[in-house]
Amino acid sequence: MLSNRQLFFENLARTSDYPLALEIERASGCWLYSPGGKKYLDLIAGVSVSNIGHNNPAVISAVKDQADLHLHLMVYGEFIQKPQVRLAEMLCRFMPGNLNSVFYTNSGSEAVEGAIKLSRRYTGRHGIISFNNAYHGSTLGALSVTGNETQKRAFRPLMPSVKHIDFNCSGSLGEISRDTACVLVEPVQGEAGIILPEAGFLHKLREKCYQQGALLVFDEIQTGFGRTGRLFAMDRFDVVPDIVLFAKSFGGGLPLGAFVSSKEIMISLCNNPALGHITTFGGHPLSCAAGLASLNYIIENDLVSKADKNGLLFRKLLDHPSIREVRGVGLLMAAELENEGIVKKLIAKCIDKGLVTDWFLFNGKCFRISPPLIISQEETEYACRILFESLDELSEF
Ligand SMILES: Cc1ncc(COP(=O)(O)O)c(C=O)c1O
Repeated sequence: MLSNRQLFFENLARTSDYPLALEIERASGCWLYSPGGKKYLDLIAGVSVSNIGHNNPAVISAVKDQADLHLHLMVYGEFIQKPQVRLAEMLCRFMPGNLNSVFYTNSGSEAVEGAIKLSRRYTGRHGIISFNNAYHGSTLGALSVTGNETQKRAFRPLMPSVKHIDFNCSGSLGEISRDTACVLVEPVQGEAGIILPEAGFLHKLREKCYQQGALLVFDEIQTGFGRTGRLFAMDRFDVVPDIVLFAKSFGGGLPLGAFVSSKEIMISLCNNPALGHITTFGGHPLSCAAGLASLNYIIENDLVSKADKNGLLFRKLLDHPSIREVRGVGLLMAAELENEGIVKKLIAKCIDKGLVTDWFLFNGKCFRISPPLIISQEETEYACRILFESLDELSEF
């Protein structure tokens, strides 16, 4: 019989020639366990997914309870299902402004697609503006608004009427016009290597969108649910968008996404045409039950403050001659080294020593520090020790 490793290379479609290919049998808290029993501290959290830690008992129990009641019943938007409505109610309670209408999706890319369609439908305009080096997903619409040419070139023609402008460049906001349906922005650019907005930039963007009648869409797919040391990045930067996108940690480890707006905007998807945006599995009852348990866990255990505090500790401890810069907020961080080659070697060395990190899609010079928000002080210190040991060994050559 072929091993799981052999089957991985034989029967799973590859996404690159260099997968991490780490075989994991079970996971708990901040730790991943291989079949041989080796354990790894997880600094990736499934790329900002496992905010409440792996296999959180509150989520497991909610999923089991829901599985006993029902799984899929009907396409989204038709039946009244308790997990969907309870999660939407709780989410809206914690959001600023009149973000009070939740459209569930299965993924982040799908939330992006929904926001693009909603913006066009509501404004009657077609222009979309997004930012260079932004990552918004891999479906054709989401790829069109992604701001990296290497990623897009091979798949053209993409969606027309999309313009990219520079993040943190107030001068480029002049591109937002009366033709702009929406401006899509990650409040903290993730795959660019954790680029924070400069003071006032998001406010200026908000203002410009108001002036031109364009909708402002925040992609909080990586930044949501405590990751930045606030429940949402829009709280941290004190800017309220017209549409906000969630996925990743939203489902507490199960697939779930959403685009959220005001009832006034969202209602425009109801007609001309009716059923113009639908999904079979969006808001799956298991995912919503998990999402509700996860959001409750974040609030009850104050993971938001923990993320803030542990992020500060990481940034204080990560003082090493090979680290050029540590950028980030809360537990969404990038540490920059001299070049991509060293980052690749560091990642391999860390995995050898029982620590998992990786690089960023559009920034190979940085490695990722986005552990579960439940990471303890001891685990944070342990992670830094392994990183330093590995960096020291690499600088000996
Ligand atoms: C900011 C951001 N937007 C959108 C996406 C796409 O989400 P998904 O992979 O669930 O389609 C990602 C995924 O990494 C992301 O980081």
